[in-house]
Amino acid sequence: MKKFVIHFIAGARPNFMKIAPIVKAMERRQQEGEGRVNNFQVKIVHTGQHYDKNMSEVFFRELGIPEPDYNLEVGSGSHAEQTGNVMMAFEKILLKDRPDLVVVVGDVNSTIACSLTAKKLGIRVAHVEAGLRSFDMEMPEEINRILTDRISDLLFVTEESGITNLKNEGVSEDRIHFVGNVMIDTLMSNLEKLDGEEYEVSPAVGNFIGENIDYGVMTLHRPSNVDDKDVFLRIWAAVQEIGSKIPILFPVHPRTRARMSDFGFKPDGVQLIDPIGYMDMLSAFRKAKLVLTDSGGLQEETTYLGVPCITIRENTERPSTIEIGTNYLAGTDPDKICSIANEILEGRGKKGQIPPLWDGKAAERIVEVLVNGNIFSWK
Ligand code: UD1
Repeated sequence: MKKFVIHFIAGARPNFMKIAPIVKAMERRQQEGEGRVNNFQVKIVHTGQHYDKNMSEVFFRELGIPEPDYNLEVGSGSHAEQTGNVMMAFEKILLKDRPDLVVVVGDVNSTIACSLTAKKLGIRVAHVEAGLRSFDMEMPEEINRILTDRISDLLFVTEESGITNLKNEGVSEDRIHFVGNVMIDTLMSNLEKLDGEEYEVSPAVGNFIGENIDYGVMTLHRPSNVDDKDVFLRIWAAVQEIGSKIPILFPVHPRTRARMSDFGFKPDGVQLIDPIGYMDMLSAFRKAKLVLTDSGGLQEETTYLGVPCITIRENTERPSTIEIGTNYLAGTDPDKICSIANEILEGRGKKGQIPPLWDGKAAERIVEVLVNGNIFSWK
């Protein structure tokens, strides 16, 4: 029987925790010796969009992702440069390997670059985390999501809004599969490791959380929040105010670090550290009193854990975290950010629930569709 080759694309930090459980679910089924799944050959392609050790390598190691079969090493650049460089490098690999399916995750530049390149060579594409919409076309990620979904053959959806959005865009139902959230698969399996004391937290995080019973965690890296000095300073005013009530740990993204240096900004009142790996981050935010963020993934992870999250954005593509979970959409107005923080710190924060199918089995469902769906011809 023919071997079906599947390429999994990993480009930037938030991609790694999404491919890890799918690759593992595939390996698990192969070890169980199930007939069809043994005809899959999995290859991992790292585009190199993120390349620093603590933005990439540490995630591969901690999450047990196999070494990439290919590393395109594209690095940073403008949107056009980065997207174009990924496309040119990936096309060569595709022409050599001729995979039967390319699996892309999330909404980063590597996601659209690889899906577009594959599709134009007549190779099928599966998009994991399809259908999310912020309805804000100023976000590069929104453009990436819409275009990737438009050309993908298989759309794996994390939350119910994704199904509605895709149907509203005229996508036929047979392409849509509501499977749950692979990011939560990764979260659940690594929580077990932390509880089983298989992981020793690094001093940068351990010292902070060890000294503080009540603390907050913050991340901030969106261009709309960190590239404009006025916006950044408005947000920082709120952060300092909250930081005067509760100590805040802030692992700083390289983009944010660079902007702060451009602005000549010397922050105080908050504990700044370099970017940290997956396990350190999970150790930090799982027991936090509150999280301040503009990340997509953290909105979901905090909802799963029931940790209050203040999202410093005007919109979110993950509405279930607001409607069902513990997430608040605060925008960038310092008064609004502080008043939500006060509500949480005074114990009046909302009590959330876990959205449907965020149960640790999303990757299994995806593999089931790949193996027993009608994507491959098994003759
Ligand atoms: C990208 C994604 C964003 C995601 C974020 C997570 C796009 C359009 N954006 O944004 O959706 O939320 O990743 O981190 O794909 N840099 C380093 N080392 C690295 C990577 C980046 O120093 O390993 C610096 C470089 O100065 C680079 C800047 O960070 O220019 C921005 O990196 P880039 O990949 O362009 O976008 P992110 O802001 O990380």
